[in-house]
Amino acid sequence: MQALAPRPGSLQIDGTLGGGGHAARILEAISPDGRLLGLDADAHAIERSARRLAPFGDRAQLRQANFSSIASVAADAGFDPSDGILLDLGLSSYQLADAARGFSFRAGGPLDMRFDPTRGTPAADLVARLDEAELVALFRRFGEEPFAGRIARAIVAERRTAPIDTAQRLADVVERAAPGRPSGRRRVHPATRVFQALRIAVNSELDALEVALAAAVDLLRPGGRIAVLTYHSLEDRIVKRFIAAERRGCVCPPELPVCVCGHRPRLRVVAGTPATPSAREIGANPRARSARLRAAERLAA
Ligand SMILES: C[S@@+](CC[C@H](N)C(=O)[O-])C[C@H]1O[C@@H](n2cnc3c(N)ncnc32)[C@H](O)[C@@H]1O
Repeated sequence: MQALAPRPGSLQIDGTLGGGGHAARILEAISPDGRLLGLDADAHAIERSARRLAPFGDRAQLRQANFSSIASVAADAGFDPSDGILLDLGLSSYQLADAARGFSFRAGGPLDMRFDPTRGTPAADLVARLDEAELVALFRRFGEEPFAGRIARAIVAERRTAPIDTAQRLADVVERAAPGRPSGRRRVHPATRVFQALRIAVNSELDALEVALAAAVDLLRPGGRIAVLTYHSLEDRIVKRFIAAERRGCVCPPELPVCVCGHRPRLRVVAGTPATPSAREIGANPRARSARLRAAERLAA
């Protein structure tokens, strides 16, 4: 809330409603007449947030949409320009707890992992269809998994005997294939990186983030802010590089004697960011352990 600094009467966009927790805080801060546009790809998140945000009446407008289409959704809803945009990336605790969605290692339900189960391809299809080399590439690229080769080999061998169509079965296959993590470190399930990789691929998460960031800067009014919460290094790198590029002025190659790009800085970093959770916060909410908040303010350029 400090990074976004929403002012009374302002227009704010929450691109990742989830359970509506951030949205409720923002709506309180922008009262009495500020408005919030909330997006989520997941219809359940929209339903849940609609109940939670009902007390705010028509000051909260909710849309089931991928944030990659934030530009058109915002324009249609009268939120272009806006004063603030929040992206709290990844999946929610509700999605993780819902065994039918296939996000959790212990889920006996189908291995799906789509934020919007009406579009795209479930994770089980990728696990069944990709050949060994493609699985290795996927686990390396989107999971930075050091044992990608062993895990991919085990998946190809196991799926010959029976399909790997539940999250629990995939977690078991990975756990048997990947050597134990060094002792003394906080216990992280050995399938964490594989699940992350599949989720990113199934939802085209990194592409959606790049598109949304570019659109967000265009949507912001001068003085407006964007705040992004990331949960792993791939996401964080994209946000960090994006802000760095928008902070710079000229991006011409150094050998050019005069500027030809005409690029002006469009963002400045908000003081106090990037920020990470304190040990106390991690103690109270272990899922926050990998969170990193980056925030930037739109300049007049
Ligand atoms: C970490 S949760 C957000 C929690 C929320 N800030 C709250 O206070 O409850 C992330 C949410 O973003 C949604 N999401 C992830 N990627 C998305 C995308 N590309 N477009 C729209 N929603 C997305 C997920 O469905 C999930 O509900």
